[in-house]
Amino acid sequence: MAKRIDGKVISAQVKDECRQRVADEKIEATLAVIQVGNDPASTVYVGNKKKACEYIGIQSLAYELPEETTEEELLALVEKLNQDDKVQGILVQLPLPPQINENKVIETISPKKDVDGFHPQSVGALSIGQPGFVSCTPAGIIELLKRSGVEIDGKECVIVGRSNIVGKPMAMLMLRENATVTVCHSHTANLKEVTSRADILIVAIGRPKFITREYVKEGAVVIDVGIHRNENGKLCGDVDFDDVEPIASAITPVPGGVGPMTIAMLMKNCVEAKGIQNS
Ligand code: GUN
Repeated sequence: MAKRIDGKVISAQVKDECRQRVADEKIEATLAVIQVGNDPASTVYVGNKKKACEYIGIQSLAYELPEETTEEELLALVEKLNQDDKVQGILVQLPLPPQINENKVIETISPKKDVDGFHPQSVGALSIGQPGFVSCTPAGIIELLKRSGVEIDGKECVIVGRSNIVGKPMAMLMLRENATVTVCHSHTANLKEVTSRADILIVAIGRPKFITREYVKEGAVVIDVGIHRNENGKLCGDVDFDDVEPIASAITPVPGGVGPMTIAMLMKNCVEAKGIQNS
C-alpha cells in the first residue's frame, strides 16, 4: 500500500515557515491580485489567496474588475502596479475574458513582480538556472517530493502533459534536481511503455482517472496534478487512485495532494520577492 503524500500537511508547513520569516525578518510585502469578471472558481481561488496573505502576515490588494474591462484598461492597471514601490507581487487571475489577450497581460507584468512565474523571462531564467520566480504548482511538487523523502537525483521522471504552467516548468525543475526527464503528450506513441519506466510519474493532462495501473511501474511515486468533479459530485484526479495506490510506493490524493501546494508556493514567492527584485 502506497504512502500518501499529504499536501495539506506540507502546504501548512510551508505557510508556517513563510509566516515565521515574515515575523522574524519584519518583511513588508504587498500582493496585488486582479480578477476580471466573476468566474466562480476564480472567485474561490482569489479569496483563498487573500486569506493566505492574511495568515502569513503580508498585505493583499484586491482589484475586482468588471467582465467588460478592455485589454487597455487592464494593461494600464498592471503598468501602474509595476511602478508602485509598495507592491512586490502582481497576480492576474486566469482565465481572462475573450477580449483580453492573456499573453500580452503576462508579458506586461514586470518579471520582478511576477509571483506566478508565468512571464517569458521567468520561464527562460528557470531554463538556464538563473534567479527568478518559479511557477507555483511545479515548485510545490518539488516541495512535496523533498519533504516526503523522495530521492530525485538520478531517477527516471516521466511527466505526462506539456502545458506552459505545469508540464514544461516541471521538466526544468526535475532536470535541475538531476532527474532523467521525459515529457509525454497527446502525440506520444506507446504512452504506457514510456510511463511504465518512471520512478517518479507526474500527471497533468486534465483527463479524469486516465492513468490506471497499466501505466505505472510497481513501486513508482505518483503525483497527480488533475482535479475534476465526477458524475456524483466527488473530486478525482487524472490518476485512478484506487487502482494505482496498491502498486505505487507513494501517491498524492485528490483532493489534498498537489492542490494546496500552489497557494503555499505563491506565498513563498511573495516572501522571497524582495530578494529576487534585488538579485
Ligand atoms: N488560474 C488557475 N490557476 C491559476 C494560477 O496559479 N495563477 C493565476 N494567475 N491564475 C490561475
